[in-house]
Amino acid sequence: SPPSWAVRADVVVVGSGVAGLTAALRCAAAGLATVIVTKALLDDGSTRWAQGGIAAALGAGDTPEQHLADTLVAGAGLCDERAVRILVTEGPDAVRRLIADGARFDTAASGEIALTREGGHHRRRIAHAGGDATGAEISRALVEAVRRAGIETIEHALVLDLLKDPAGRAAGVSLHVMGEGRHDGVGAVHAPAVVLATGGMGQVFAATTNPAVSTGDGVALALRAGAEVADLEFVQFHPTVLHLGPEAEGQQPLISEAVRGEGAHLVDAAGVRFMLGRHELAELAPRDIVAKGIMRRMREQDAPHMFLDGRHFGAAMWRERFPTILAACRAHGIDPVTEPVPVSPAAHYASGGVRTDEHGRTTVPGLYACGEVACTGVHGANRLASNSLLEGLVFAERIARRVRREHRVGHRGEHPVAGAAPAAGDRPAQRLLPPEARPEIQRIMSRGAGVLRSAAGLDRAAAELDELAGRAGDKPAEPGTESWETTNLHLVARVLVAAAREREETRGCHWREDFPERDDARWRRHLTVRLRAAGG
Ligand code: SIN
Repeated sequence: SPPSWAVRADVVVVGSGVAGLTAALRCAAAGLATVIVTKALLDDGSTRWAQGGIAAALGAGDTPEQHLADTLVAGAGLCDERAVRILVTEGPDAVRRLIADGARFDTAASGEIALTREGGHHRRRIAHAGGDATGAEISRALVEAVRRAGIETIEHALVLDLLKDPAGRAAGVSLHVMGEGRHDGVGAVHAPAVVLATGGMGQVFAATTNPAVSTGDGVALALRAGAEVADLEFVQFHPTVLHLGPEAEGQQPLISEAVRGEGAHLVDAAGVRFMLGRHELAELAPRDIVAKGIMRRMREQDAPHMFLDGRHFGAAMWRERFPTILAACRAHGIDPVTEPVPVSPAAHYASGGVRTDEHGRTTVPGLYACGEVACTGVHGANRLASNSLLEGLVFAERIARRVRREHRVGHRGEHPVAGAAPAAGDRPAQRLLPPEARPEIQRIMSRGAGVLRSAAGLDRAAAELDELAGRAGDKPAEPGTESWETTNLHLVARVLVAAAREREETRGCHWREDFPERDDARWRRHLTVRLRAAGG
């Protein structure tokens, strides 16, 4: 149906995690008319669930160079070193600006920011807030800053498609807004600069640390708009997620790496520390190595999970340093003060996404991306712990600088929005998948494209996804947030499975049982996907 309302701006930011809110704040501060659209509420999304913290070379003796080295090792040969260098050198000041925006980090007795360790870091480098509630504090501070700045926001707004002008440049987004007064129904924000900051796609799997809103909407939009997407096969599984049983589905409670950073041990049912001897950093090896170590031990022992033992912390430390995790465990009847916590890996982070350059520009002019939805090249085949909040900050700021240069204030209204059309044309309603397909997609993906992958499993997943779409094609789904989300999940799942099938090696967080070795001769390269876009 044609848009029933339209808003005009210099820049529209889609999403409201650390990346989106930072991009919006910096654009608004530069005098650009900025609108934020977000699918649920301003403080929903993954950022507020982040626990461990934000990595930056802030400590005495630490340097961006050392942060770079750890990031490159974790990325298993596929990081873009230039992008990583930008991340680690601009990171410390970006964190200081976040503090200036109002974020309060935990401090040591000296008054300096307290720093902890996580997997893959050779130094204490992780700033945290509220003990283990770093994301919640960052979200609170940025939401308040956005409100103080008076930035226009439209909540409950699911982004549908990129609008393009006749020259193929981004010209805004179409949206489906639910119950938001003057912006209800299908509408559009017209703007010559569109910043995608929609977060991840963890909901493509049955068990994930991601909230329900992480449905790959940004990657799906970018694919439909003809933008290049890269590295989708590199899904990171967090090693230590509270194990709630084999049938657990949806968002699962995270047990931060920082718990291991402060000295908790991974043990099997007999109390044996199985990561000792597997890597020089043992429990603090990069995340993919720890996740594989856990999976291997589970298989060797035919065990449904392993344990994280932090009993030696004592009650006071659990309460002060890890209040969120303590409460989550206790809510599920487990007391980490007196018993080891059952843990197993679950989907956590999309290292790939919409390909960008160092200014956050995608391959579609005027379309930018930052945060988890983007593939800036900093994560390679496996993201280093706590680099993601930092990436969101640093590249959001770079986008704001670039937008200010390329779309100077005062140009508003000069853009040919009259010709703006959805990049993929109007998709007929019968192409939308029904919400009932969502759990099916998640089960297919967890079974066939989870931590352990093989050609046979991936082929089966691909066939099942096709079959599901075929079945759903007979039964038109009503347009609405849930059917759009399901359709987006299906699209990103198909592309993810195809990429995982193609990469015949094991690297970073992509683990092929049938190709167990890393193969630099054939595979030290990225897999990119670009769908043919209509209308642009
Ligand atoms: C955590 O373990 O707290 C999450 C850190 C991260 O995903 O970077």
